[in-house]
Amino acid sequence: MTNQTRWWQDAVVYQIYPRSFADANGDGMGDIPGVTAKLPYLKDLGVDAVWLSPFYRSPQADAGYDVANYREVDPLFGSLADADEMIARAHELGLKVIVDLVPNHTSDEHEWFQAALAAGPGSPERERYIFREGKGPGGSEPPNNWDSIFGGPAWTRLADGQWYLHLFDSKQPDLNWEHEEVRQEFLDILEFWTRRGVDGFRIDVAHGLVKAPGLPDWEGKVIMAEGAERNTPDGPTAQNPVPMFDQDGVHEIYRAWRAHLDTLSPEVALIAEAWVEPLSRLALYVRPDEMQQAFNFSYLTADWGAASMRTVITDSLESMNSVGAAPTWVLSNHDVIRHISRFGLAGKGRGQNGLFASDPQPDAARGRRRAKAATLQMLALPGSAYIYQGEELGLPEHTRMPDEFRQDPAFERTGGAEAGRDGCRVPIPWDSQQPAAGFSFGADAAPWLPQPEEYRELAADQQVGVPGSMYEFYHAALRIRRELGLGGGELAWEEELMQQHPDLVAFENGDVLVVTNYGAEPVGIRARARVVAASDSAVTAAAEEVVLPAEATAWLRRG
Ligand code: GLC
Repeated sequence: MTNQTRWWQDAVVYQIYPRSFADANGDGMGDIPGVTAKLPYLKDLGVDAVWLSPFYRSPQADAGYDVANYREVDPLFGSLADADEMIARAHELGLKVIVDLVPNHTSDEHEWFQAALAAGPGSPERERYIFREGKGPGGSEPPNNWDSIFGGPAWTRLADGQWYLHLFDSKQPDLNWEHEEVRQEFLDILEFWTRRGVDGFRIDVAHGLVKAPGLPDWEGKVIMAEGAERNTPDGPTAQNPVPMFDQDGVHEIYRAWRAHLDTLSPEVALIAEAWVEPLSRLALYVRPDEMQQAFNFSYLTADWGAASMRTVITDSLESMNSVGAAPTWVLSNHDVIRHISRFGLAGKGRGQNGLFASDPQPDAARGRRRAKAATLQMLALPGSAYIYQGEELGLPEHTRMPDEFRQDPAFERTGGAEAGRDGCRVPIPWDSQQPAAGFSFGADAAPWLPQPEEYRELAADQQVGVPGSMYEFYHAALRIRRELGLGGGELAWEEELMQQHPDLVAFENGDVLVVTNYGAEPVGIRARARVVAASDSAVTAAAEEVVLPAEATAWLRRG
């Protein structure tokens, strides 16, 4: 298939984290009926599609990314009928629905893993996973030096002496993708959800399915928290080769998926969650006969500054254009510190894995200023953009969550060295007057993670229709993006402007001039232009000059 003129090409996709979006039954946990009830809000906001993190049957050891049954909805979130209703309602509203597919590992409570445990070493049941004998005396050492991305070894030993591989939690055993049954099963799962009407699949850990033959040790290391090293990269790395990730053999799998989906519904998109660098390697996942999009984590992790941003945008466009795929842009998701807080920290790029109250805290004003500037740039770039729930309300990371509430396995597996991702997963405040800020539809059950005090005043009811609010900022930007066709446009760099002012990133998209000032000083641009959108009310346009304050973006139209 070609990637031309498909719905996803310029789509703005809103990520729903079902646990924390809206709780319709009042048990403190978000659910699918809660999502359905809020779809009109998302339609009004102006997005084109929703992507839901997993809601399948799961013991929730990794918040649902540990799937015990791929064809059932966990009772925590509702029923299959609720999912059908949600999909139908979204379609009525003209919203596409993307679901999450987790093929790298299952839950240890999946029937296949249970059968593998029962059947014992050497059994065909064990071949669907990655079981090995250990090294050293009596096989007492793990088969190789890989670490779990959540900390600790990537291997767990069973009472019968064998070890099994889990790149994530010990309750998430990695599947063996050399196995024909595994391949067939996922074609069937794709078909199951396609027939229920979904419009796309976000593929979890898409770069992880195939491991290097012989599972060799990795000689690299990544530094995580202070003093904590890890023998598995968590995030994009150019430290190749990485035996657990980005093996060439993975592409054959996605070709088979695409071919299968083409027979069912060519409009269904595959979206790679692949933490792969450089971008030229990422582009291999979105060749015309594979997936349609890949999250641009290079953009998410890029350092604040004109030079680094210009480089990452250039590389993104070049690599995606080279394979005819739509570029994507993303600033936040359920795995990273919310960008409004991240930009308020002194650190660089993606930063650490969550924050403790004892860590240096974000500068809220700086974070908000930069977040608005970054968002307005993102929404003017050609291609597709991903928004994470709550960023339209300007919700900060919960940076002072008491440890007893933390649920991310990374917190426990690192012995508390890493706070983990709970701080970006806090339930959404909808109504400042209600218990749990309206997350639980009036019920007073405690939300599964505590909301920080400031969430109440940021509740949706305090922002919708209120000029100057973050919600109205997103709302207007999405409307103008659509009206001006920015997502489907093309970027042309404003070389001269950037030479004159090295702190600017400036480009034209159609007849819109998009300028971001990354510097700490205001910049005056000689131009006769009108401001169409601005991240900062201090952007001004006089007869011959536009002034951009520090750390601001403006969309301008000449004349
Ligand atoms: C992906 C998900 C993350 C999850 C991991 C294991 O990175 O985004 O939340 O923990 O995969 O499935």
